[in-house]
Amino acid sequence: AIQRTFSIIKPDATKRNLTGQIVAKFEEAGLRIVASKRIQLTLAQAQQFYGVHSERPFFGELCEFMISEPIVVQVLEGEDAIAKNREVMGATNPEDAAPGTIRKEFALSIGENSVHGSDAPETAAEEIAFFFSGLELVG
Ligand code: CMP
Repeated sequence: AIQRTFSIIKPDATKRNLTGQIVAKFEEAGLRIVASKRIQLTLAQAQQFYGVHSERPFFGELCEFMISEPIVVQVLEGEDAIAKNREVMGATNPEDAAPGTIRKEFALSIGENSVHGSDAPETAAEEIAFFFSGLELVG
C-alpha cells in the first residue's frame, strides 16, 4: 500500500553538505518528497521528539547532537514507504549497514548516523504530526 514515513537528515550529514546526495537515494528508491524543511531544533524539542529514549544512557548525547546543526525534516511517500526507507537507510550502526545504503556510505558512527526514519505506521503518523501541519503535505 502507499504509505507516508517521516525522515530526518541529521546534523552530521547537513554539516557535510550531503543533503542532496541523501535525497537522491530516497528518490532513486521510488520515494517521493511530499514535505521538506530545514530547521534547527531546540533542546526541548529534541528531548520531546526522542522522549521514548529518555532512559537510555545515550539520551543526553543524542539530544545534544540533534541540536548541534540544522536538520532537514521530510515526509516521504511511496509503496511500502516505511520499509523502503529503512532499507535505503541501512542498519542503525553503519558497521552493520549493507553496501549502497545511506548509513554505509555516509554515517560516521551509531550516533552520528546521518538519517532517522520512522519504524512503524503509528510512529510515522506521530512523527509527521510533530513537525508538519496537514497544509504542508503536498502529495
Ligand atoms: P534514530 O533512528 O534517530 O533513533 C534513536 C537514535 O539513537 C538512533 O537513530 C541512533 O542514532 C541513536 N543511538 C542508538 N544507539 C546509540 C548509542 N549507543 N550511542 C549514541 N547514539 C545511539
